[in-house]
Formats: sequence, C-alpha cells, structure tokens
Amino acid sequence: MTQRIVLFLFIYSIISSCSRSSDIVIGTIDLGESKVLLTQEADSLNVPWDLQYDRTNKCIIFSEIAGNIRKLNLETKEVVLLKKIPDVFQQRSTGLLGMALYQPKRGAHYLFLSYTTKQNDKIYSNLYRYIYTEKSELKNPKLLLRIAGNTGHNGSRIIIGHDQKLYWATGDAASDHFAQDSASLNGKILRINTDGSIPADNPISNSYVYAWGFRNIQGLTQGWSDIIYTSEHGDAIEDELNLIRPLCNYGWPLIEGRYPPKNDIDSLKQLTFTPPVRSWTPVIAPSGMAYYRGNRIPEWRNSLILTTLKSQSLRILKLSEDGRKITDEYILFKDLLGRLRSVITAPNGDIYFCSSNRDWNPQKGFPKPNDDRIYRLSKTGEAAGKLIRPIKAVEADGHLLSGKQLYASYCSSCHKADGKGIPGTFPSLENSKTVNGEKRALADILLNGLKEKTINGVKYDASMPSFDFLKDEEAAAILNYIRTGFNNQGSTFSINELKQYRKINGNNK
Ligand code: HEC
Repeated sequence: MTQRIVLFLFIYSIISSCSRSSDIVIGTIDLGESKVLLTQEADSLNVPWDLQYDRTNKCIIFSEIAGNIRKLNLETKEVVLLKKIPDVFQQRSTGLLGMALYQPKRGAHYLFLSYTTKQNDKIYSNLYRYIYTEKSELKNPKLLLRIAGNTGHNGSRIIIGHDQKLYWATGDAASDHFAQDSASLNGKILRINTDGSIPADNPISNSYVYAWGFRNIQGLTQGWSDIIYTSEHGDAIEDELNLIRPLCNYGWPLIEGRYPPKNDIDSLKQLTFTPPVRSWTPVIAPSGMAYYRGNRIPEWRNSLILTTLKSQSLRILKLSEDGRKITDEYILFKDLLGRLRSVITAPNGDIYFCSSNRDWNPQKGFPKPNDDRIYRLSKTGEAAGKLIRPIKAVEADGHLLSGKQLYASYCSSCHKADGKGIPGTFPSLENSKTVNGEKRALADILLNGLKEKTINGVKYDASMPSFDFLKDEEAAAILNYIRTGFNNQGSTFSINELKQYRKINGNNK
C-alpha cells in the first residue's frame, strides 16, 4: 500500500513538473477516443494576425495588425516585442498581415512579411524579407515585391512550399479587373524565390503568377501530398475553399463559387474556371488555415483546420485519402471565443490559434476584457473545464428561413444584429428614412447594392454588395424584417411586388 502511494507521488511529481504552471484551462473537446484540452496561452493582444512556430527557440512568433512582431515563450507564457515594423499603414483591415518563417537546415533564416504602406495617398501591399537570427532579432529588411493595395481586400498569407519557394496569396485590391488580368499581380497566388526573383520553372515564364481569379484569400496551407489549399472571402455569398493548381483560373469576379457566371456572354464560354472544393452560403468569413498531419489526435489526421471570423468558430474539415475532397466538417467553439483569425500546427502535434475580437468588425458581446488571445489545443488524458462537443455541419438544405434568420445570415455582419451598424463604417438601419421610404428604392438597394452614397452626412468607404441572388420570397422576408423592426414602421412588401421590381431592373432570373 505505502509503496503504491510513493509510486503515485513520484509519478504525480513528474507529471506536474512537466505541466506548465500558468496554463488557463477553458475546456475539453470530447472526440470519443481522444480528448483535446483547450487552454489559453496569452491574452491582452491587439489583433494578432499570423502565428508562426520558431523551431530553433521552440516558441511562437506572431504579427499584430498595427505593425508589431512579438514572441510568445511557450514555457513561461511571457510575451515580448521583437520589432515594431516602421512604415505599416493600418486602418480597418489594412496593416501587418501574413508572414512566413523560413528556417532551413543550412543557410540564413528569414521572416517574410506582407503589409500595407501608404505613399502620396496611394496604398500598396508589400512583401518584405527580414533576416531572423538565432536570438530572434530581425535585421536587414529587403523589399521583395510591391503591388497595388486598397482600403480592403489586401489578402494575404504567405507560405514556404515543400519546393522551398514562397507562395504569396494577394488580394484583388477591390478592383473589378485585376484578378482576371494575368499581367496584374493582384488577386493571384504568386510563386517567388526566397531572394525575390522569379523561379525559372514557373508556369508562365518570367512571371510570378501561379494561379488567378481570387478576391481576398485569408488562408493558405500545404498538405502531405504537396496540394496547396486556400480559403477565401466571397462577397455576399460563396466563401470558398480551393485546391490550387498551376495556371488554373478560380473565376472571381466573373463567377462566384459554384454559381454559374453572372453574365451569360460568349467570351465567358471560352474560359475554364476551377470550382471550389467547398463553398459556404451564407458566408462564414473563413480566415487562417493549417493542415493537420500529426498523429497525436488521430481523429483529425489529414484534416484542414480553419478559423472563421463571421461564424466565430474553428472548423475541422476532414479530407479524403487523396486530399482532394472534403468528406466531413465539424464546428467547434461556436460563439464562445469570438472571431478567430489564424491557426498553426506545432511539430509535436499541438495546435495554436488566435482571436481577432479587437479588429474593425467586432461581433456582439466582444471584445471581452483582455482580448485578444492565443489558445492551444493539445491531447489530454483527463477532461477539465467545460465539456465541448464538435457539431457536425450540415449544408443549407434549401428550406425557407425567416426574415430574422436571413438578416442574421446576410446583413448582420455589417449592419449588426440590432441594426445599428458601425458608425462611419456601416450605416444604421434604425429609424431610417431609406428603410421606411419608397419601396422600389429600397428594393433597388437590396438587389443592386449601393456605393459612394452620403447617408446622413457620412460618406461610406465600403460598399453594400448586391443580393440579387436571393429568391423573391427571401428578399421580401428580409425587407419586411427591417421595415417593421429597428424602430421602423414601413408598410410590408408582397412577393409579387418584388417580382415586379426585378422585372423593371432587368434582374429577372
Ligand atoms: C459587407 C457589408 C454589408 C452587408 C453584408 C450589407 N450591407 Fe447594407 N450597406 C453597407 C454599406 C457600406 C452601406 C452604405 C453604402 C454606401 O452608400 O456607400 C449599406 C447601405 C444599406 C442601406 C441604405 C441605408 C440608408 O440609410 O440609406 C440599406 C437599406 C441596407 N444597406 C440594407 C442591407 C440589407 C437588408 C442587408 C442584408 C441583405 C445588407 N444591407 C447587407 C454594407 C453592407
């Protein structure tokens, strides 16, 4: 008996000396066989945008959108500033965005950074390379590429491929033609040598362009069989997950996701578009993505792990053996942690991800005090904290949703659940002249979108997307929801009225 107690104490002291004293346990995910512990690793951060694992120092380095590169010690949980990048232009979604840490066995180690700058009123997206020393110093910045930027749609993520080339996913800089123009470097996946030159074996000789037709890629990762995956924000519909092949055209802005081309013109029939392997309508705003190859959590082996902003969740996308299809999708932490921005897997099979609750578009109830945070998922023997069960995602089954549900799916990410919007960014729909006003004008806004209007003395930078893909009954349900709620008292629309407005607009489809 006493021997047993001694043995128990001995084992206990070994385990407790390994466990890190300042772990804050949030909960345990029950996967049946495995249990996965969710802990908080760091807090009080300011919109961390990209996480990278440093193999030399066994720590995490991360970017914050305003221009900081910081380092998280995984043992002590101490966070230190490595460098403030000097010329970052930060406003709304612009700033210091994606990065990639390159630590080859031989040769210099580099940190590649993507960030926006502003000169003479023009915004640019820049790809920089810093030398990253063994002591985590950042030295000798070198500008590798500078392309057009905008107040939004600047992407971006960077990875070092298995072929030791850089892949840079660039945004379309909110332009209508960049993504389809093979001479423009926006709305593309670019393939680049680590010194900034064009690889001799690129698919188009003397061009960085590797694949095109993208709107705003936020996630980029590579699987075991060299397949590159991206996650991308659609406009009002069809967020996408794509499997990237050289020279393929992913269609933006001519087509959205799995929908047919917007204009049925002959010149489009000559083009071949590559459809996404998964798309989401209503949109979820997919962000960072990591491929899970670890054996620690066998249930997740050969899956993509995706953070989402709008749907405030972490998703596990199980891949088929060949990595070319998604066979299952599970949703974790729905509405528990807020907006999630970036995710990585560490060599030991742990997963790290971060929140983005202090960014330009906070969701209801966020930011919480001490946001933003970095979290860890690691295999555990004993459950602790709250019990978290993954929810299996089911694709929208086509049944008609209520005006309130439709508003939550399509409008509330900008105008907010209470209709009050964000002052200066998204107009309030509360007690609104337009919402209460002439029916045809209101239907026009919904069906065609709106831009560059001055509303109550405010000029809006962002534009309102077109929702002409909605069925007549759905459009009527949304309009009636906003006209009779949010302190508005407008008369309601019939489905026939909507049909009429569509005919007048030539939107009859
Ligand atoms: C991506 C963000 C976004 C989404 C999603 C969005 N809107 Fe808007 N909306 C805007 C912006 C920005 C404006 C102002 C546009 C401008 O004039 O430049 C606007 C303007 C409006 C206006 C005019 C307000 C006024 O006082 O003149 C109405 C009405 C409106 N939106 C309704 C909706 C409805 C209904 C939905 C959902 C079907 C929706 N919006 C979805 C961004 C959005």
